This record gives sequence, C-alpha cells and structure tokens, in this order.
Amino acid sequence: MVVGSGAREHALAWALAKSAEVIVTPGSDGMAAHGLTCVATHPSELEADLFVIGPEQPLVDGLADTLRDQGKIVVGPGRVGAQLEGSKAFMKDFLAAAKVPTADFGVFRDAAPAWAFLDTMRPPYVIKTDGLAAGKGVLVTDDLELARRDVVTKLSGEAFGDAGTTVIIEEALDGSECSLLVLCDGRDLVALVPAQDFKRVGEGDRGANTGGMGALAPLVLDDGEVATMMKEVLEPTLDELRRRDIDYRGVLYAGVMRTSRGAKLLEYNVRFGDPETQVLAPLYGDQLYEMLYGVGVGGLRDVVARPEGAAVTVVLAAAGYPHDPRRGDEIHGLGDDGQLAHGREGVVIFHAGSARDDDGTWRTNGGRVLAVTAVASSVAQARSRAYEAAALISFDGCVWRRDIASSALEVAR
Ligand code: AMP
Ligand code: GLY
Repeated sequence: MVVGSGAREHALAWALAKSAEVIVTPGSDGMAAHGLTCVATHPSELEADLFVIGPEQPLVDGLADTLRDQGKIVVGPGRVGAQLEGSKAFMKDFLAAAKVPTADFGVFRDAAPAWAFLDTMRPPYVIKTDGLAAGKGVLVTDDLELARRDVVTKLSGEAFGDAGTTVIIEEALDGSECSLLVLCDGRDLVALVPAQDFKRVGEGDRGANTGGMGALAPLVLDDGEVATMMKEVLEPTLDELRRRDIDYRGVLYAGVMRTSRGAKLLEYNVRFGDPETQVLAPLYGDQLYEMLYGVGVGGLRDVVARPEGAAVTVVLAAAGYPHDPRRGDEIHGLGDDGQLAHGREGVVIFHAGSARDDDGTWRTNGGRVLAVTAVASSVAQARSRAYEAAALISFDGCVWRRDIASSALEVAR
C-alpha cells in the first residue's frame, strides 16, 4: 500500500508493482490510467503486507504511529522522528547533539534579534521557515533589505501560517548539492546511489526555489565520498536517534552541500525525495519491494541492493509555477494510459498535478504536472531520451528547464 498522490508515489507504486500487488491511496488519475489500483479509503482501514508513506505531512501528523499501533509494517518514521523534517529548529538542535557538520545558525521568534543576527553575517543571507513549506520556505539572497523583509513576512505567519512563525537564519554554504537517500530500519543503514535535484525554477539554477524541476541518478561523486558522508553524517544521526529511543524505520534523505571543507548537511527529509524518487525507483525496480520490506521489519542487514543503469527526470510544470500555477490547460501528447501517445524506449511518465476529464482529455491540475523520466545505461543517454519524450508533450504556458543533467554531460566528456 502506497500512501500519496504525486509523481513520487507514482514512481514508488510503479516499481513496487514489479514484484508485488500494489494499492495506492488516494492515488491519481494518472496512476489509475497506468493500471495501478487507487482507492479513497484511509490506510488504517486497509490490510496490506507493507505500508509505504510518501509525503511528509502524514508522517509529521503521526500516521506511521497509528498504523504501527494496528500491527502494520510501515516504511516511514513516527511523529517524533518526523520532526527531523517537521521542524528545522528541532533538526538543527539534533544535528548539534549528534555532532553532524552543518551550517552555523540562529533560531528566532522576533524580528529585532533576527535583524541583529543578520547584521553579524555576510551575504548571501539564508532565511528558512521552521515548519513544512513544500520546498518553498527558503530564501537565499545578497540583499540585506530583502532578507530583513523576508524575516518579517515569515514571522508574521502570512506566508506559511504557523509553520512560519519561527525562522532560522543560517550561514551560507558554498558548493554543489547532492541528495543522499538512505534506508534505515532503526539499526542498519543502506544508502541508495546519490542523486541530484534541480531546485530552482530557472535555467542555470536561477530564480525561485521550487519543489524540484528535475533530477538525475546516479550522481558521480569522488571515490570514498559516500562512505565519508555515511561516517560523518548518517551514522552519527542513527546513533543520536537511538540515544533518543527513536526507532526510525524509513528513509533518511540527507540534503548535503559538498563544500571545500567537506560535506555539510543542509537538511534532513524523512521520506523519499520528489523528484529524486522518479530517478531512483527505476534503478532498483523489482528489488524495491524487498528493500522496503527490510526497512519495515528491521531486516535491512540481509538486503543487498544492486542498482542498474541511470535515469533522468524532467518536470513539466503548469503556467505560473511556482507562485501561481494555473489549472485546466489541456495536455497534448498523452494516451489513454497517461503515457506517451507514441511510446519511447525507456520512458515512463509519472503524474503529479494532472487530471483527466470524463471525455479522456488530460489537463493540468497543480504546480508540477508531469515528471518525464527516462532510463538508459548512462545519464547522458537517459537525458536525451527524457528530452525527446518531453518534446512530445505540450500544454499552454508549460514551465520547464532545458538544462536538467547538462552538468553530467560535461563530466562525461
Ligand atoms: P532546504 O529546504 O533547507 O534544503 O533549502 C532549500 C535549498 O536552499 C537548498 O537545496 C539549497 O539550494 C538552499 N540552501 C539552504 N540552506 C543553504 C545554506 N546554508 N547555504 C546555501 N544554500 C542553502
Ligand atoms: N527534492 C526535494 C524534496 O523532496 O524535498
């Protein structure tokens, strides 16, 4: 049973369906068209051998605890463990206790001390909302005036409600980012291959932060870099979780900045990444069920994961994304199954903000609409397949980046 309705859950359900019978709640028109069983029932009223919770909000709300209390096997931390993502202030205190390298920071509930702290920092200024903000709660700017105004707006609760009445101001870290998703069964860790997410809306990593405009995996790192991240970031985190008696069974998604002074943790997410999952799930395919079952039952020690190939995903977002996405634009190029009308090798379309009319017309129905994913033997080949496929789909005002994974091409040359 997969809980959620986005492209991440579509990718999880699609991969799990290679070796298990899958139900999704609530799922989406795109998943149903793709042959996945979607039901509107609450997961606590359903029986399944394994429950995989996709989004952060139900985890923060304690859904995993509810299901475990019913004796169910679940991938996803309980309410307390989910605070690693649910509150950046909690996360930063936790990292300090665990001695995990991260940016220096201050936590503020009032503007005056926050402004005074800003005056002690050099640009760029990094200002974060404490609570969940769908990837949109972070401002990075060189403009002190803008930084001050952002503090005030965030503290007022206007932008993110209660999630935003505390702000974190951070030292800016310079380097390249990497998403390291690590499976954790409370006792052992299994790292998935590193992935890269393209967070800014504009090409060349410019413009507003979004939920993610594309992704690639594997991201090639230096020899031994993943091992160092495991040793300096993930293992101390697991130790601290255990010290706090948190039986963490789920994904620890480390957003890591690779700086000239080593890897520093930007943030933890307590779930699969979106859009990272759209490139990771295809690499594990029919192994994913066994891996996730291992997470749920505490059996990761016996799991050997063998990722195969490379994948790139290009997100097609609605007109006006990320500020004010428009709904209802007709999507051209998809067939009745929600996949490319003219299929392409190695390509799969994961649906996020799409919906299907009774007459079969596909329409935009949210910010990120489709994740066009291609798998191949190399990132370069996956990239060209993904862009060829994306060019076959169109809707008015589509927002997308033409430079997803282009950096990987330079490395390949
Ligand atoms: P977060 O939600 O904390 O991952 O932040 C979203 C994005 O903002 C990150 O992926 C980075 O691109 C950027 N960011 C966050 N914190 C910092 C920082 N301390 N220094 C530089 N960039 C940051
Ligand atoms: N890829 C960013 C996130 O899942 O939060």
